[in-house]
Amino acid sequence: MAAKDTSTTRPSHVAIIMDGNGRWATQRGWPRLVGHRRGAERVKQIVRACPDLGVKYLTLYAFSTENWKRSTQEVLGLMALFSRYIEREADRLSAEGVRLRFIGDRRPLDGRLRGLMDGIEKRTAANTRLTLTVAINYGGRNELVRAARALAADAAAGRIAPDAVDEAALEGYLDTVGLPDPDLVIRTSGETRISNYLLWQSAYAEYEFIPTLWPDFTPAKLSEILDRFALRDRRFGALTA
Ligand code: FPP
Repeated sequence: MAAKDTSTTRPSHVAIIMDGNGRWATQRGWPRLVGHRRGAERVKQIVRACPDLGVKYLTLYAFSTENWKRSTQEVLGLMALFSRYIEREADRLSAEGVRLRFIGDRRPLDGRLRGLMDGIEKRTAANTRLTLTVAINYGGRNELVRAARALAADAAAGRIAPDAVDEAALEGYLDTVGLPDPDLVIRTSGETRISNYLLWQSAYAEYEFIPTLWPDFTPAKLSEILDRFALRDRRFGALTA
């Protein structure tokens, strides 16, 4: 039997829960922040690899609404990493045709970080080679609550009729407006939870839970997962042909 042609069945949108930075560092007797720093290096490599792997949209879970429960030192360290990533990668992302956008509730974030986020989003808005979406202070339930509030306000002001609220209308209020749904969600580190990630958007996504800790996640590993994805039979609720 001829090998299955995987070229047309690559996922266009891959979403990743980057888990295991802390364990990676602890296993080596290093502070957790060293693991996050190594994780940020992996982010750069994976972003660079995506266009050649046929991935047009990459969405990364960098900080959840629950991550504020970590130590102040770790939270501040992560926030500093996000700022540094934007500052240091801005030129490269622009030159490589990457559009960078953010999802999540920005209001509790530090003003300087918010300014950097707004700036890079504007600067890269016209890029089309890869859309990199980074979730910071993101939670799927929080996103749905914010969407419901905005929708309720529009309904109360007469801007939308309750009967006009359908799936497409609700999607217009989500942080991910304009992004296609993820085809594949990957979680590293062996945990098999979705942890409040893209709850609405992942309704038909395929999942891959892999034991690799995020700092060890290479472009070659991503490529292997994409090959496996190509062999899956996605039916979206229908029967196979
Ligand atoms: C989860 O691992 C990882 C995070 C909460 C942070 C993810 C952040 C990065 C990869 C760094 C930079 C990101 C960007 C976009 C520049 P964990 O700390 O929960 O690991 P553990 O479960 O082993 O403790």
